[in-house]
Amino acid sequence: MTGKGTPSPRDSEKERGARRRLAILLSGRGSNFEAICDAIGDGRIPHAEIVAVISDVADAPGLRRAVERGLPAFPIERGARSRPEHEREILAILDAARPDLICLAGYMRLLSPEFIARHRGRILNIHPALLPKFPGLDVQRRALEAGELESGCTVHFVDEGTDTGPVILQRRVPILPGDTVAMLSARILNEEHHAYPEAIARVLAGELPRGS
Ligand code: GRF
Repeated sequence: MTGKGTPSPRDSEKERGARRRLAILLSGRGSNFEAICDAIGDGRIPHAEIVAVISDVADAPGLRRAVERGLPAFPIERGARSRPEHEREILAILDAARPDLICLAGYMRLLSPEFIARHRGRILNIHPALLPKFPGLDVQRRALEAGELESGCTVHFVDEGTDTGPVILQRRVPILPGDTVAMLSARILNEEHHAYPEAIARVLAGELPRGS
């Protein structure tokens, strides 16, 4: 195993065949994607490999990092296409990559019900709030403005709703006096980088949340 989330050439065919296959969808920075790679590299997500990194933003930093790590990287912009056309291209890549799990890591598009139905129970997302509180966007600001005393992150299965699928795990952080959106976001992000790998490892180990 290299530190890059890819199997080493020395791994036997049998070991490689037994690896669980992860696909990543991202739109931006990709720090959660990199945390997942690092966790594969150091064994916190055992027997796994990343088989596709797909981005709807061609110059997303996360996609660049995927290329640097030698992973299969796919810039799939929507452009003037309809959502079904765009998703068809992504689904074709996923069909070829045969992932066990599809991890949304800062993927900024809504998936259609057809996409979700095709991969039901296989799609995970990370959200920077303690769901069911604060689904949707701009949630760190909303938590601050609501006067919350704590926030955190949630890893959950994706269903047809907005951030409504079964929760796999959450990690909490305090909201401190004088916090700005940037300060709170950074504190939550730090927890995200532990939460996502742990959640993936649990799901791959067959530990499923109630209702999933
Ligand atoms: C994270 O805050 C995640 O919770 C949200 O989008 C952000 C992605 O950050 N869904 P990164 O691209 O993984 O650095």
